[in-house]
Parts: sequence; C-alpha cells; structure tokens
Amino acid sequence: MTRPSPAPGAGSPAVDGRVPDHLLRVGDLEPDVLRALLNQAEAMKREPLGWVDSLRGAAVGCVFEKPSTRTRVSLATAAHRLGMAAVVLNRDELQLGHGETVADTARVLSSYLDALTVRTFEHRVVERMAEASAVPVVNALSNSHHPCQSLADLLALQEHFGTLKGLRAAFVGDGGSNTCTSFLSACAATGMHLTIAHPAGYGTDPAALDEARTAMRHSGGSVSVTTEPEDAVRGAHAVYAEVWVPMDRPGEAGERRRDLARYRVDDELLAHAPGDAVVLHCLPAVRGEEITSEVLDGPRCLAWLQAANRLPTAQAVLHTLITAARSRAPLS
Ligand code: CP
Repeated sequence: MTRPSPAPGAGSPAVDGRVPDHLLRVGDLEPDVLRALLNQAEAMKREPLGWVDSLRGAAVGCVFEKPSTRTRVSLATAAHRLGMAAVVLNRDELQLGHGETVADTARVLSSYLDALTVRTFEHRVVERMAEASAVPVVNALSNSHHPCQSLADLLALQEHFGTLKGLRAAFVGDGGSNTCTSFLSACAATGMHLTIAHPAGYGTDPAALDEARTAMRHSGGSVSVTTEPEDAVRGAHAVYAEVWVPMDRPGEAGERRRDLARYRVDDELLAHAPGDAVVLHCLPAVRGEEITSEVLDGPRCLAWLQAANRLPTAQAVLHTLITAARSRAPLS
C-alpha cells in the first residue's frame, strides 16, 4: 500500500517565525530550531519519499566553487526527494567566473530559484549572496563555516547515543577549521562539552569561542582548549578527526603535516579514550594521515553514518527554509 504524502508544509518544525532567512552558520539557528531540524531529518530518514509532493515544481541552485562529493550529491538528491529540481553549477559555468559580481549573480538566480546553496572560499561571499538573494541561501561550506556538516554530525551522535545534551566530545587537529568552528557552535547549542586539542598556531577563532561560551551559559555545555590530544580524548564519548590540509591550501601541506603529526586519531590515541567512545570524521579522509584505516573502518567509527546523514539533514534544511520563506512572502 502506498502511503499518502503529507500535505505541503507538514512536518515542518514547530518553530514558526524563528526559522532564519538563510543558513550561513550554525549560530543562525536558535537551539530549538536546530533541534526541530534534527527531528525533521530523522522523520525524513525514516520516510524519505514522504515529502515528495511538498515542493513539487520548485528548484534549488547549487553553486560549487570547490570540489565536493557528499554535499553536492546529498543536496541534489534531497531536492529530488522534495519534488524539486536541482541545478548544479560550477564556477566556470557561470558568468561569476568571468567578472559578474556575486550580488548580481544572486539577484538573478534568486528570480528563477526557490533556494541557493553555495560552496565557496571566503565566508563573505555567502554573506553577499544572502544579502542580494530573494530566496534562502544555504552555506554548503565556506573557509570559516560548514553548517550542513554539523547537522549531520549531530544527527549521527543523537542516533548513536539517544541524546546530545551532556555528551563529551574531543576535536583533535586544526582547531581553526570550518568543521571545528561549526561543530563548536553545534555543541554550544545542544549542551555538549567540547575539548579542542590543537598545536600552537591552529587555534579556534576567539570570537567563535566567545560566542560558544555565551550560548553554553544557556545550554549547559562547555568548551576547553588544550595542546594535548591524550588529555582531550580522556573521558570523551566522541573523538572528531578532520583532514589536515584543506583543499584550498595545498601549499601548506608540508608544514601542516609536520605541525599536526601528534594529532593523528589512531589506536594509540584512542587507548586514552573510554572503550565505547565513537570516532567522527566529516570525510574525505586521508588514510594514514589524520586517521588510520584501522580506526576509519573500525566498529567505533561513525564517519559513514555522518556521511549518510548528509542527505536527510539536507532535505530537512531545504524543506524548512523554503517553507518558512514562502510563509513570509507577501501575498501577490
Ligand atoms: N564533508 C564534506 O563536505 O564532503 P564533500 O567535500 O565531499 O562535500
């Protein structure tokens, strides 16, 4: 028997009026909006085609200025599961690569589309897109933030542990990375305790730490910083590893490999963590560098669940932002 699809808009978070216009950073989401998005994603994971009529005829533009496997395919598939078309555009295929401004591009694209997703370099580019766009803009990764990844991370932890509040996580590696910065905000919103272990010169943006500490006064979470990876993983429920050389910094590869060598997530480091601690990785991984194959392919690794969760979380983000934007649009 085919189950009827929910009516348009059904299943949206019960946080009407507080869904942001755009998702550029995890901090754009109030804690209960973030929780509602995770609940929505769980529902969409259980019934992937339950919303297939909800945004029929709509379209999302996916602008990619950097390579992507997970983000690109999960967004396009999420759109398909909402009845939407996905228009995937590389920079060189747009006039953006030939001198047209970001603002002019966003203004025009948003007159055709119902949402825009953007993977770029400087975070200011996604902000400029959002300022000029008439439809929701979703940051599909900038040099500073990776909010879509954090939603999938949280969903994986919630599925594994049944709760997020009170969980202790350790991020081991480049504390200034976009993934770490967004994961910090995610921990802050959900009342998790995060320890970031990084070498000198790889610290998290002080403003991001301050913002997280302010949010944690309400959520009950905490953040601490150390240079010692063994101290960070002691008592952790989850240990997060991330690639050492970002895709736009190949010139720093040698220096980064030298500086981060002590921060590899391997069996030796995990011997300092509880036996039931899980390992997170946003992928892609460089096996043998920031994480060993033994750990990545081992039973305690949630990286594959995180990757799979990019799809239902992308579906929830597109559905929630587009539905909220439509409800705010003036009647013509
Ligand atoms: N984690 C992540 O964003 O993967 P892609 O770069 O493949 O999209």
